[in-house]
Amino acid sequence: MPDIAAHAALRLAVLVSGRGSNLKALIDAQAQAGANFEICLVASDKAEAPALRMAEASGIPTCALDPAGYANRADFDQALFARIRDSGANLVVLAGFMRVIDADSVTPWHGRMINIHPSLLPKYRGLHTHRRALRAGDKLHGASVHFVTAELDGGPVIAQSTITITKSDDELSLAARLLPEEHRLLIAVTQALAAQRLRLVNDEVHFDGKPIAAPLQLHADGLGSASSTHTAAE
Ligand code: GRF
Repeated sequence: MPDIAAHAALRLAVLVSGRGSNLKALIDAQAQAGANFEICLVASDKAEAPALRMAEASGIPTCALDPAGYANRADFDQALFARIRDSGANLVVLAGFMRVIDADSVTPWHGRMINIHPSLLPKYRGLHTHRRALRAGDKLHGASVHFVTAELDGGPVIAQSTITITKSDDELSLAARLLPEEHRLLIAVTQALAAQRLRLVNDEVHFDGKPIAAPLQLHADGLGSASSTHTAAE
């Protein structure tokens, strides 16, 4: 299978299940002059996903597979990842793909599949992350991009974007404030992967050739090491 390094422009297969705002951010970024990645496929488990319409409107090849047509998860994932392979993708981006992926389909993409998740992982894997952060009384919230492993939201975290939770925040306001951060973060990580600044080496994230001690943070000027004022542990 082609390595990330073997391509001039990184070819993305983006997996989606719903709204597609992260996909839209990627589509807008790839339209910018000097973009170092291109989306070669948008695939979904939901034929009616608005994200698919967005991809079609941009002339990007799409594919919708219905899980009901397959005997089990492994069969569905095999069919889906066969389409991804055929597209010539060398990075898979999960952007609101609301399914667990079978380990046999994840393993061949180790280090070449990322997910955007709306929490400061390892906090709040799974659903309802904004609600859980509010209920816990957290002062900070955020988004993470991580390499995908067979463990749900459990792979090595590459980078995070952090926001402060205010007294007036509710679930909706928190989600709305975090979303643009998700978009910036996903684009920054994708660009860094395309520029070969990021790699997974023996299950460790390397940035500019060195292992990172903690997830990178998204600063105003791009990805960098964590600052002392913002840590996921708070
Ligand atoms: C985002 O919050 C993403 O972090 C999560 O699912 C949501 C998808 O939103 N994994 P969208 O479809 O990209 O608008």
